Amino acid sequence: WIGFHTKLSEGTLPYDDDQRGISEQVVIKFSHVVAENTPKGLAAQRFADRVNQVSDGNIKVEVIPNGGLYSDQEELEALKRGDIQMIAPATTKLSSFSSKWQVLDLPYMMPTRDSIIEAVNGEIGETLLQSLEENNLKGLTLWTNGFKQLTTNDGPIVQPSDLKGQHLRIMPSHVLKKQFELVGAKAVGLDFNETYRLLESGKLNGEENTISNIYSKKFFDVQSNLTISNHGFLGYAVIMNEDFWSKLTNEQQTVISKALEETTRWNQKQSFEMNDEQLSLIEDNSSIDIHYLTNEEKRKWFERWQPVYLEFEEEIGKELMSKMIQLRN
Ligand code: LMR
Repeated sequence: WIGFHTKLSEGTLPYDDDQRGISEQVVIKFSHVVAENTPKGLAAQRFADRVNQVSDGNIKVEVIPNGGLYSDQEELEALKRGDIQMIAPATTKLSSFSSKWQVLDLPYMMPTRDSIIEAVNGEIGETLLQSLEENNLKGLTLWTNGFKQLTTNDGPIVQPSDLKGQHLRIMPSHVLKKQFELVGAKAVGLDFNETYRLLESGKLNGEENTISNIYSKKFFDVQSNLTISNHGFLGYAVIMNEDFWSKLTNEQQTVISKALEETTRWNQKQSFEMNDEQLSLIEDNSSIDIHYLTNEEKRKWFERWQPVYLEFEEEIGKELMSKMIQLRN
């Protein structure tokens, strides 16, 4: 069982602190694709430190950032195989497991921070995490990053028609692909860590992401225009392989759950603040041109994207859709 190593340092005897009669150090490899200085990177490390401290080293969480071990798609496969024990992919990347997750990708579905927090911490978040069970995955909690924005190399993006003919990187997702098709752009689902190179080489014109990802991966260096559109949500499902989780003792599960509870509370506040701070840093330190969409401009994009709501309502499920829409009001 790959995640577990017997902890017998030289000269010490195994000590008897659980039902197994031997102390085992649990090693949890937590892989993710973003930089350390991001909402997910910081939350993963905070969680790791907390677990290492509370368990007195008996549970060791090792965080591997920047896709150092596995890229976006690979990390899901690696988790299923048991090569790593924990990941926190963008919720978008889980729609291949259950189409319900697509509800979080609908453009302007959650227009405020409060509506995001209410969705992820309430019944909607619970339903989504539970949907992972069918795939032998244990959904533990939901972390936030923030609102997605648009960047491009091809002039200011103010009206939906400004994206016409642009070649954009998106996370692999039917909703996102359709959304950009509706405004005449060609959007391709690609690995996160491929994005910078493709923007730099001019193979892509633009992309959508949160400020924290735009800042930490320096997309602003290879893009001429940034539009603060707040048009979509980026957040994460923190998950383990169900077999791994169920083999942990109750005590180990409790240590992990409590550390996650604390980390989630912290992340859901810190993530939005971090995006705000890093936007100021981009404003102050880069030459990228920034446009803030007015409410009237946002309304036009929202209207233009209405067909996505209709097209995906059935796949997502009417009940879940209407619960989400209620949060907006
Ligand atoms: C992306 O692929 O753009 C994001 O999912 C990266 C991340 O994990 O924040």
